[in-house]
Amino acid sequence: MAVYQATTSAPVNIAVIKYWGKRDTKLILPTNSSLSVTLDQDHLRSTTTSRADPSFEKDRLWLNGEEEEIKEGGRLATCIKEMKGLRREFEEKNPSEPKLSSYFVHISSRNNFPTAAGLASSAAGFAALVSSLAALYKLPASASELSRIARQGSGSACRSLFGGYVAWEQGSKPDGSDSFAVEIAPQSHWPDMHALICVVSDDKKGTSSTSGMQRTVETSPLLQHRIKEVVPARMAAISKAILAKDFDTFAEITMQDSNQFHAVALDTYPPIFYMNDVSRAIVAVITEYNRIAKEKTGHLKAAYTYDAGPNAVIYTPKENVKEIIELIVKYFPQANTFSDPFGLFGAQGVGAG
Ligand code: PMV
Repeated sequence: MAVYQATTSAPVNIAVIKYWGKRDTKLILPTNSSLSVTLDQDHLRSTTTSRADPSFEKDRLWLNGEEEEIKEGGRLATCIKEMKGLRREFEEKNPSEPKLSSYFVHISSRNNFPTAAGLASSAAGFAALVSSLAALYKLPASASELSRIARQGSGSACRSLFGGYVAWEQGSKPDGSDSFAVEIAPQSHWPDMHALICVVSDDKKGTSSTSGMQRTVETSPLLQHRIKEVVPARMAAISKAILAKDFDTFAEITMQDSNQFHAVALDTYPPIFYMNDVSRAIVAVITEYNRIAKEKTGHLKAAYTYDAGPNAVIYTPKENVKEIIELIVKYFPQANTFSDPFGLFGAQGVGAG
């Protein structure tokens, strides 16, 4: 008997222009466009196996070996339903194909990094889920089409369907049909770019991005300013900087946007704190490192950014990686281990997964 099964993996992506705020919470439509770099690290991937079988009695999903409930109308159910819908269309066009859309699926997903610690686990998770179902169903869908479905699992997941430099266009249509990810440049465009992940803590985050965003949208006047006055210009400028491989501009905008995202979190009422004292100390070290570099060479050497957690991601040209690791290890001596409270995942290229 035929076995219908597919395994794929997806990497995490780390935004340099942050998505924070939904204009539609069900469809997951953002209040601003965002832009990220997809990491190409073996350390930070979700691997997902999907299987369809006529003997299955319901859709089921395991995350890191533990079964998760697929709530009706929830995000997992939505992604699975949308993918089955695409398969159904495919079967209608190709009547000789087996009717997999009518079978239940079993899905097993594993992250090789801490889940929900501000390391974009849901981005890799939903991207891997959607791409494994696309492989199982042999769908001819483009990455942008699949990104529209992954978006409904976790907004940032839509960007993990591409490698390299990826924009999520917010779109304006109420049905979300124009809110998807597009490639700005492949990883090979700027192979010199590296990302260092400094794991300050792998505890689960205190405020989930979903509840945090909602509170910010409801209470932060700074968010309204950011959406209207700041992000559109930054999206254009950083896209241009990426295409021109202009690291100074890329770094400056990346750090400014991380700062503003955390300012918006602080402007939320009650406030949200994702960075901690170690995160702030890393900002100080990188700021000083850049000040000295700028004085000597006229150029910046590194850009920090922080998501909804205390862990730092440092983007830097390859030539500086060793120096930055030495610097971090000097100021944070625990950093040369993978253990708490401060592990360093090391440095690798960013890009296509
Ligand atoms: O996709 P979510 O709900 O996990 O939100 C991600 C939000 C940030 O990571 C903080 C920013 C981003 O654009 O990835």
